[in-house]
Amino acid sequence: MNESKPFSAAAERNRNAILEAISEELVPGDRVFEFGSGTGQHVCHFAAALPQITWQPSDLPERLSGIEQWIAESGCSNILPPVAWDLASDHPAAQSVNLCYTANTLHIVSWPLVQRLFQHSAALLPENGKLCIYGPFLINGHYTSEGNRLFDQQLQSRDNKSGLRELNDLNRLARGVGFSDARVVAMPANNHFLIWAFSGSPDV
Ligand SMILES: C[S@@+](CC[C@H](N)C(=O)[O-])C[C@H]1O[C@@H](n2cnc3c(N)ncnc32)[C@H](O)[C@@H]1O
Repeated sequence: MNESKPFSAAAERNRNAILEAISEELVPGDRVFEFGSGTGQHVCHFAAALPQITWQPSDLPERLSGIEQWIAESGCSNILPPVAWDLASDHPAAQSVNLCYTANTLHIVSWPLVQRLFQHSAALLPENGKLCIYGPFLINGHYTSEGNRLFDQQLQSRDNKSGLRELNDLNRLARGVGFSDARVVAMPANNHFLIWAFSGSPDV
């Protein structure tokens, strides 16, 4: 194994549960755009398990070489080269995708960048496209575990712009750019997998 290849133990732990959830949302021929791909472990695992899906990883420029290493070692031909994609940018480059996906990014980036992620997804997706987001969230204003409450405290003490997001706030944001309310799937370790369908008609 390449010594310098980045590795996330968390991504290794949650990849099968996410694969199971995301595979329910896909049909052969679909194209997925991933925001904040991190190490690239998720996209490689999903692409190997779902070879009829095309996967487009993205992240900040400094993450791309690590993702490229994972892709090269995976041998998967259904993963496109990772693209530099900063949520802070204004205009997403056009992509042909049916589903946008991200894991464990909403509590890392600031609220304005969470807003951007929904705006970018709305710009990328066709009508009936989906946005799927995995991570820890507050549901109806409540932490789903004591561990999540402590994690949120830690995040906010490190950077007060980060922190766990509340599902109702996300739904409000989603409706404003043309998504339905989320379907909510409970996941292991008090995480959730949220699925928004894109109608293209913002609820203003
Ligand atoms: C906790 S990691 C999650 C990585 C991966 N999705 C996973 O679940 O293992 C958060 C990711 O968000 C990315 N990120 C942070 N700020 C970003 C921004 N402004 N635009 C795009 N991605 C960003 C980081 O580079 C990192 O890969």
